[in-house]
Amino acid sequence: MITQDTIVLWNQVQAPGYYRMGLACAAGFESARPGQFIMLRTGTEAVPLLRRPFSLLGLIREKGVVTGIEILFKVVGKGTERLSRCREGDRLSVIGPLGNAFAVPDTCRQLILVAGGVGVPPIRFLAQSLLEREGGFNRCVVFVGGRTRDDLVCITEFDLPGFLVEVTTDDGSQGNQGLVTQSLERALDAGPADLICACGPWGMLKEVAAIARVRSIACQVSIEAMMACGMGACLGCAVGVCDDDTRYRHVCMDGPIFEAQRLKW
Ligand code: FES
Repeated sequence: MITQDTIVLWNQVQAPGYYRMGLACAAGFESARPGQFIMLRTGTEAVPLLRRPFSLLGLIREKGVVTGIEILFKVVGKGTERLSRCREGDRLSVIGPLGNAFAVPDTCRQLILVAGGVGVPPIRFLAQSLLEREGGFNRCVVFVGGRTRDDLVCITEFDLPGFLVEVTTDDGSQGNQGLVTQSLERALDAGPADLICACGPWGMLKEVAAIARVRSIACQVSIEAMMACGMGACLGCAVGVCDDDTRYRHVCMDGPIFEAQRLKW
């Protein structure tokens, strides 16, 4: 993990309010893994002082060498609004990579990925990395959900060999109408899975965790939290857990990936 000034390579609108940003990094992300995040200063000045956490969407490679990272963000406040105005060539301070990563055991052959709304980045990064997995996998089904079609971002990037993509929107404007967890349940009724990896709103993750528990399927979730420091200093990102030795863990240091059944939902 290092702190560095990165250069904005691109900052493109993906859907109304959603931006995809490429950042050139001098070093430090060669071994970054799906699930890890950065703390990004959301402007070229030192204001605001606080950084914001962003999950990695993927790595930028040139001739096989990692030269940068990509993030995806939705404009939800002043920080992300400021970020949306960044242009190619702007410099942004980054700390990372931070946190842990999804861990897919070699024995897992039937995989399910679930991404809700802005939960797409670590799931997209994970999907890409599965292609490079030694031994491959038998089947990977990706469930992507959003409130409307305008909340579906990067879905074409799941069109990968061996992947099946199922899209759900709350209003039915694209894909199945309903909740992504309903599509997940239907798929699990039809076939088995060894592991579910999910990222999205807390309510969706809670439901995914419950579905996995009832069916005794291993489940890893990437959770969001308010983060002021990203490094265990402010203690502001505590989450309740069922561990024997403590009632709380910190999302920035112990996560953001957790075994679903370890969390107090
Ligand atoms: Fe400060 Fe986790 S964000 S302790």
